[in-house]
Amino acid sequence: MRAIQIVTTRLSSCLRPIRFEFVSSSSSPRLISNPRRLICTAAATKSDGGRSGSIVAPLVENEEEVQKIDVNPPKGTRDFAPDDMRLRNWLFNHFKEVSRLFGYEEVDYPVLETEALFIRKAGEEIRDQLYCFEDRGNRRVALRPELTPSLARLVIQKGKSVSLPLKWFAIGQCWRYERMTRGRRREHYQWNMDIIGVPHVTAEAELISAIVSFFKRIGITASDVGFKVSSRKVLQEMLRKYGVPENLFGRVCIIIDKIEKIPIDEIKKELESTGISEDAIEQLLQVLSVKSLDDLEDVLGGAGEAIADLKQLFSLAEKFGYSEWIQFDASVVRGLAYYTGIVFEGFDRKGNLRAICGGGRYDRLLPTYGGDDIPACGFGFGDAVIVELLKEKNLLPELGQEVENIVCALEKDLQGAAATVATALRSKGQTVDLVLESKPLKWVFKRAARINARRLILVGKTEWEDGSVSVKVLSSGEQFQVKLNDLE
Ligand code: HAM
Repeated sequence: MRAIQIVTTRLSSCLRPIRFEFVSSSSSPRLISNPRRLICTAAATKSDGGRSGSIVAPLVENEEEVQKIDVNPPKGTRDFAPDDMRLRNWLFNHFKEVSRLFGYEEVDYPVLETEALFIRKAGEEIRDQLYCFEDRGNRRVALRPELTPSLARLVIQKGKSVSLPLKWFAIGQCWRYERMTRGRRREHYQWNMDIIGVPHVTAEAELISAIVSFFKRIGITASDVGFKVSSRKVLQEMLRKYGVPENLFGRVCIIIDKIEKIPIDEIKKELESTGISEDAIEQLLQVLSVKSLDDLEDVLGGAGEAIADLKQLFSLAEKFGYSEWIQFDASVVRGLAYYTGIVFEGFDRKGNLRAICGGGRYDRLLPTYGGDDIPACGFGFGDAVIVELLKEKNLLPELGQEVENIVCALEKDLQGAAATVATALRSKGQTVDLVLESKPLKWVFKRAARINARRLILVGKTEWEDGSVSVKVLSSGEQFQVKLNDLE
């Protein structure tokens, strides 16, 4: 006979009690007939034993208590259901493993920071995209759009208590009110690796090497992606040549970074508004089309710091073994004001996607926050564009759920014994899915297949009286009995 259990509960947020009716049955469940009008209906039950004991339908006595919700997350944000979460963990594990191989330490910062941390005067796009608001204590706060300012804040806070150089990595969620395009969202995760306290290009060279290692691990090759590399010192040297004041540097970089997004006449107008001469603007724009170091040397008229840094980087790339991945491209400037030296961006060679990752040297960021004059460089690598690329290349891994054992009691009153078996296995480091209700064996086998279980462990009355369980190896069908203490 089926038992119908009626549970009355009170949700803390509701004034009136809401009744949920559970149908618990040893075989198939059914919808119970309801004496009252049903306002909400929960997921339908299946007749194959799939959902017995689930909530059939909450009874709401007052229609006003129903608040229909949009089941989609806010625009530009994502849920991570188990399948998505498996992919995310796979990706993050590679990020972590590469960082570990390079000897970096993991850090994290709050998603919520003071708004001032992200306000720079150079007119960056990132500022207009800020999710910012006043909290209940009237403080201006913002959801972080990137991790670098938080890193600078923490380094300054740690002061002399940490010894340089620091090699830190972080994986954190960032928020930008972006126009949505393929691989660009309003929320994304970024893997960052940063080096604090090394003024030499050896640092940038190592960072690019880490990204290349990551690409290789996930099956991406130098024919799929490359890095465009330049140095902000190129622009700096040009500006110096034309007597443009140093304090305009960040602003000019931000304007130039928009070259592919807005018409060239507008770029020129914006540059003119900073007070730069027409002649200088023409020269600046010309230098951006340079694609080789030799040509750059010609344009800049001799070997300055920019050329020296870039040459050293290319020479180190050879030693690290990733020369085929990088190319000089003066048009790479990057859209953040704080970069001062080498800048780089990872791109897909087919040109279908936006930048896969990007970074560079930001030697002046710590002092602009009032910290010591400590050189720094790093990169950010998002989780969205790379997944698009993997999809395109058919390189997405097949990731199913994986639980080593499924443990099932053959009779209802052996459920406690099955729990003991599960606990014993888990204490030995084995993963266990414990069947929590009485289920037909057909259902258990189906579930075992779905979670890719290696073994099915059945707890039956006779064996259990003897302190044993039945073990079935699912790949071979081999079956044997084993004492609980000997179960490994
Ligand atoms: P970024 O170029 O603004 O640099 O972002 C780095 C990477 O984050 C991008 O290349 C992309 O993979 C990802 N990303 C950025 N915005 C979005 C978005 N709206 N949707 C999806 N992915 C996105 C920075 O943030 C610097 N703080 C990186 C850095 C670290 N530089 C030095 N250290």
